[in-house]
Amino acid sequence: MTVPFPSDGSKLPSAEIAAAGDAATRPLFHFTPPTSWLNDPNGLVYYAGEYHLFYQYHPHSLVWGPMYWGHAVSRDLLSWEHLPIALEPDDLGMIFSGSAVIDWHNTAGFGAEAIVAIFTQFADGQQVQSLAFSTDRGRSWTKYAGNPVIPMPAGQIDFRDPKVFWHGDPHAGRWVMLLAVGQEIWFYTSPDLKSWTKSGEFGAGFGSRGGVWETPDLFALPVDNNPNNLRWMLIVSVQDQAPAGGSGVQYFVGDFDGSTFIPGEAPETVRWADYGGDFYAAQSWSDAPDGRRVWLAWMNNWRYGANIPATSWRGAMSVPRDLALVSDDHGAVLVQQPIGELAQLRGIGHEWSAAQVQPGTQRLAHMRGDTLEVQATFAVDHTTTARTFGLRVRTGAAEATVIGYDAEQRALFVDRNTAGHKATASDTPQIVPLQPRAEEISLHLLVDRASVEVFADGGRVVLTNQIFPAPSSTDLELFAEDGIVTLKQLNVHPLRRQS
Ligand code: FRU
Repeated sequence: MTVPFPSDGSKLPSAEIAAAGDAATRPLFHFTPPTSWLNDPNGLVYYAGEYHLFYQYHPHSLVWGPMYWGHAVSRDLLSWEHLPIALEPDDLGMIFSGSAVIDWHNTAGFGAEAIVAIFTQFADGQQVQSLAFSTDRGRSWTKYAGNPVIPMPAGQIDFRDPKVFWHGDPHAGRWVMLLAVGQEIWFYTSPDLKSWTKSGEFGAGFGSRGGVWETPDLFALPVDNNPNNLRWMLIVSVQDQAPAGGSGVQYFVGDFDGSTFIPGEAPETVRWADYGGDFYAAQSWSDAPDGRRVWLAWMNNWRYGANIPATSWRGAMSVPRDLALVSDDHGAVLVQQPIGELAQLRGIGHEWSAAQVQPGTQRLAHMRGDTLEVQATFAVDHTTTARTFGLRVRTGAAEATVIGYDAEQRALFVDRNTAGHKATASDTPQIVPLQPRAEEISLHLLVDRASVEVFADGGRVVLTNQIFPAPSSTDLELFAEDGIVTLKQLNVHPLRRQS
């Protein structure tokens, strides 16, 4: 196959990270596996009060290998209960990525309200689509005896990552499946999850084509919260040449006619869900309550994923994010907000307003920590003389991750060049054009033990990055260069597990 799955786990973590061990380096509010290697989120589905999170899992190693589906559940998307492995390799091959649905009307005949997992199996160059089901809230799993339900068509190399949803009336609709096929998305439909008919193709000549396309998703979102104005979002992960180097998630805005995706924008339009180095294979939950569309992604990158520091486990998920669509001058733009549930982790916060940041670096003496939420609003108006300004997080004697705004270039940047142990492929700062809104730049940062997620401009621009600072690098600083900037508002909360 064309996928260069890395197998080099030889690089060791820095001495300090290794010495600190799991306790100091395991993320506080990001999902990690109990042990071993994790990649894509799989089978995200909500049922009977539980968010299910399955994931690509190699339980015997710190690097990718024959894949299984690991499994965890959560009632609040914050604390996760690890469950036994759900799916293991068999004669049809290892278990690759896929999705899960609730078969509300028992179309497949597996039982009332069965959870049905639809996934790729890979062996001997063949990628085929298979089913498994559970009728006990995901606690035990049975593979369908008729697997595979879709064999690999002749002439294909990549044919994987089924994402399934119900389309149409609850009783008169049908199942729809998306598959990533080379650099296209193919569509299939089915009355019963077992027999599938190809209904369409999308992709030739569209979007970013820097790498093989993987793990698609498709859902409708209201534009500007207007339920009468729905647009369909086609999500496609691209394995290489995303803006920060390596893997990334692009999206297309358009329509879905029940058979295929109808693009609403020109083929050369490329939209990225995230401009950081570590947001891949994003998937949204099926059947999330209250019409909510919430997703998360593997917080890593195929370029260097096997080389990030690891002790007993390797890999984490991004924080879950609520999705919305807002109109702007260029059409409709995806907006991501960290889930509101995170506020439950806030400790006692500090608040500043109308402070002036002088040239240089200013440490916030009372606000340090390896797990922080930071919300900052800076003025960008006639009083702003600083060329660049922003925040430095996870700062130590010789370390800092810089999140700043370049007022001359009108661009947001994240620089992890001095973030700590170097495991990631590219250290060039990530730079994203960003115009101030109402003469302000707003930043919402989530800092964990090995990552920083930046939500700028209300979540219109997002950058997710892993960082590997020494556990002792916990300072938070403001900075301005070549002038001053007014910090209109700053809120900082330590994040912690409530006991
Ligand atoms: C995406 C991916 C999928 C594949 C899985 C294998 O990261 O390459 O296309 O199903 O990982 O682990």
